[in-house]
Amino acid sequence: MNSLVIGLQWGDEGKGKVIDYLAGDFQVVIRYQGGHNAGHTVYHQGRKFVLHLLPSGIFYPATLSVIAHGVVVNPVHLVNEIRQAQEEGITLGRLVLSEAAPLILPFHQRLDVIFEQSRYQRIGTTQRGIGPAYEDLTGRRAIFIRDLIDPGRFRRKLEPLSDYYNVLIRAFGGEPVAIESYLNEYLAAGKQLQPLVADTVTLLNQLLAQERSMLFEGAQGTLLDISLGTYPYVTSSHPTPGGLFCGTGLPPKALQRVIGIFKAYTTRVGEGPFPTELNDATGERLRQSGGEFGATTGRPRRVGWLDLVALRHAVMVNGVDELFITKIDVLDDLDEIQVAVAYDINGQLSDSFSPDPEFLDKVRPVYQRLPGWNCKIDAIKKQKDLPAKTREYLRFIEKFVGVPIGHVSLGTRRDQTVRLIKK
Ligand code: IMP
Repeated sequence: MNSLVIGLQWGDEGKGKVIDYLAGDFQVVIRYQGGHNAGHTVYHQGRKFVLHLLPSGIFYPATLSVIAHGVVVNPVHLVNEIRQAQEEGITLGRLVLSEAAPLILPFHQRLDVIFEQSRYQRIGTTQRGIGPAYEDLTGRRAIFIRDLIDPGRFRRKLEPLSDYYNVLIRAFGGEPVAIESYLNEYLAAGKQLQPLVADTVTLLNQLLAQERSMLFEGAQGTLLDISLGTYPYVTSSHPTPGGLFCGTGLPPKALQRVIGIFKAYTTRVGEGPFPTELNDATGERLRQSGGEFGATTGRPRRVGWLDLVALRHAVMVNGVDELFITKIDVLDDLDEIQVAVAYDINGQLSDSFSPDPEFLDKVRPVYQRLPGWNCKIDAIKKQKDLPAKTREYLRFIEKFVGVPIGHVSLGTRRDQTVRLIKK
């Protein structure tokens, strides 16, 4: 069944592990949005890999990995990521890159940094140039992979765009970026990527007609979606299902199942509202035991309790069919686990969510306290071996959000996953 793996929180839900776990059952794995702001951590043959642009199915030699045109691509970064994996002795599966993927160029990154330091827009971005590159797409100025692999065409399009950005960069007191400082590196990357470049809209539709099984890999998460997230504290793409169709050129019937990934607690990096945030010893304990430091930037992630009000909203907007809970083992040594079940707004209780930061800044979460299981569960392989209190905790979540939990991840390795069978 063609499936989408989508993060239901603010990213970092453990999608890399989930996709790697599921990818063996699929013939094609497709990234459809975001860029190298993503950091999908995959443990392969006992080693840790953080994938930024490469789809997380890349470790399966028989799987076709596709970077579709919804992804913004820094070609130099992509070439380096491929080379690093090869240097580590990894045999990569076949990779195809869309000719219509917009490029991230050095001036995008410089402007991203300038905006972050200005009083106009402090979002806490990954400073990879993601926002400005997507702005070029909607501003009808973007330069694409198909331009890069034709040196004359690339230069022709680059010059006016570079002028445009350097005017802006200068206006903000920044150092302009000279084309000559990166042109050769970009052209060399284009040359290396050329054999991978294809019309992925046609390719994916042909694969759909041939009934090849597809796994769609969402990057970031629902609450970071440009239209459905906690705007302006969001990324500049659509991780939610709409982004899949625009970002691949596949029709809605290509998607048969939505698998929603969420962590047993909540984290976010960057600025923005976070009602269940913990700025105390419990938060620090979760951060340390969960290794909650950004996979792309190394920043300590903000940490808090699981927010079921937000989760239920994310399940609704994505049409989630089944849930995959991750990092539940991080809760192993807690006597008591809290989950937010309502919001208190000046004494009024509400159980509905709005992504409006001004609303979220006003709410005080109302918590349900659940007993912890107080034992190590990371070696458990079967549903029946899960402690009764763990099962109660899972049932509570399922009942609240109204969707079954299909899998529980209790460690970083592929085999540290328990499949839940409903009777
Ligand atoms: P940008 O995507 O770099 O523009 O960053 C915008 C917001 O999305 C910031 O809060 C980032 O921390 C956040 N963000 C972007 N990519 C990821 C990710 O892969 N995981 C978690 N947060 C992310």
